[in-house]
Amino acid sequence: MPSVRDVRAKAGNEPITMLTAYDAPTAEIVDEAGIDVILVGDSVGNVALGYETTVPVDVDDIARHTATVTRATEEALVIADMPFLSYGTDEQTSLENAGRMLKEAGAEAVKLESGPHTVSLTEKMVQLGIPVMAHLGLTPQHVNQYGGYPRQGTDQAAAERILELALAHEDAGAFSLVLEHVPANLARDVTAALDIPTIGIGAGPHCDGQVLVFHDAVGLSEWTPSFSKQFGDVRGEMQKAVDDYVAAVETGEFPAEEHSHEESDLDSLY
Ligand code: KIV
Repeated sequence: MPSVRDVRAKAGNEPITMLTAYDAPTAEIVDEAGIDVILVGDSVGNVALGYETTVPVDVDDIARHTATVTRATEEALVIADMPFLSYGTDEQTSLENAGRMLKEAGAEAVKLESGPHTVSLTEKMVQLGIPVMAHLGLTPQHVNQYGGYPRQGTDQAAAERILELALAHEDAGAFSLVLEHVPANLARDVTAALDIPTIGIGAGPHCDGQVLVFHDAVGLSEWTPSFSKQFGDVRGEMQKAVDDYVAAVETGEFPAEEHSHEESDLDSLY
């Protein structure tokens, strides 16, 4: 089982693979594929819980889904994504919420959507034994401030701020950094400036690793961002199976003889 140290050691050496998972069968599939890291993302809100954004996701949601994923995972490193306002307000609550993910749900690390407000918090968590993956660029919990999901780091000042914050989180002890929806040349420069690995999503090919939302990667989402890629058509397969089931019940084709049994010792009841 890789530890956060193993993931950190891959920086500049071997590409790091990371996908989200929120339930047991998905975690098993992803783990069996040999993925390095499973993220129990707060994207569970959009892709599985029926919310428009990740804002309504709470600590109990992430704790329950993380515990489900850790029960089904044998090899990959499992990281719990701290939801909106579960951290960064006051330190005590932030530490208790993050601590739950390790103590109760079995995660090995947490991810924080990062900013100036998470530098000292990251340091404190790491001191206490809670490994932290930082996350800069597009931080979807700010959707209401952005008014959508725009690219980040597109002008010089914004790019410099991202680099500064990346270095600050590395200094604070983060073991890796997600870079979301930033220009590939900025991701390249940040990756070169850091010793810890960068994991990109919509950040081009120069990061140390890549992450996608599972539902986007396998083609289960109705909509996927332009920077993502569908590696399958799971939605189409599921739709076809359900259509076939409905048709088979309606035509009486299912259940067939092999799906039922008659008990010869049973007398007719009427
Ligand atoms: O919640 C999530 O799935 C994420 C990844 C996209 C990085 O934060």
